[in-house]
Amino acid sequence: MLGTQIRPAGPGDEERVRRFLCGLSLHTQTLRFFTGQPSPAASLVRALVAVNERRDVLVATTPDGEIVGHAMSYQGGVADVEVAVVVTDDWQGRGLGPCLVRTLLLRAFVRGARTVAMDVMGENRRALRLIRRVWPDARMTACSGAVEVTAMIDPAVLFAEQGSVATPLTV
Ligand SMILES: CC(C)(COP(=O)(O)OP(=O)(O)OC[C@H]1O[C@@H](n2cnc3c(N)ncnc32)[C@H](O)[C@@H]1OP(=O)(O)O)[C@@H](O)C(=O)NCCC(=O)NCCS
Repeated sequence: MLGTQIRPAGPGDEERVRRFLCGLSLHTQTLRFFTGQPSPAASLVRALVAVNERRDVLVATTPDGEIVGHAMSYQGGVADVEVAVVVTDDWQGRGLGPCLVRTLLLRAFVRGARTVAMDVMGENRRALRLIRRVWPDARMTACSGAVEVTAMIDPAVLFAEQGSVATPLTV
């Protein structure tokens, strides 16, 4: 998508992730974190780049290296992995969010995950549409203003979609 690239995040991304968070509108921050983050805490920034055997993090970057999308998965309680995704306001609506989620799920599937969960605010129609597209059979449970989404990870859908882009990590 206009030269953006999806790659794993690393400790060297802390400053870029901090800038990315500061650049999100309050609305987008609230949809992702369920609260506004006008000045993101250092602990949050660190958590968003921390990768280990239980957590995977991807970032979407522009050709000049700025982060415009972030997605993470972590071993969950209600499913093998829970995922969360956010795209900066100016880049929303260009298909980056679904691409990040699919790439994240492919990586989780390869590591053995078979079920996925995501918590979404009930009013977040955009994210709910994305989920219906990526996981048509998702189960959605409403709970105090939020929707808990659970689904099976379908490798056939993921690999088919992945094959439609130029290289595995370039969109
Ligand atoms: C949800 C989100 C990740 C989707 O990523 P994206 O890259 O925008 O995804 P898409 O390009 O597929 O766009 C999703 C839909 O929103 C619409 N959209 C996106 N930006 C828009 C805008 N500024 N105005 C109107 N519609 C817009 C798209 O047309 C698309 O609609 P469709 O489903 O009818 O085709 C992104 O909107 C986002 O970061 N939201 C805030 C964080 C969040 O909600 N995270 C999910 C919970 S963890």
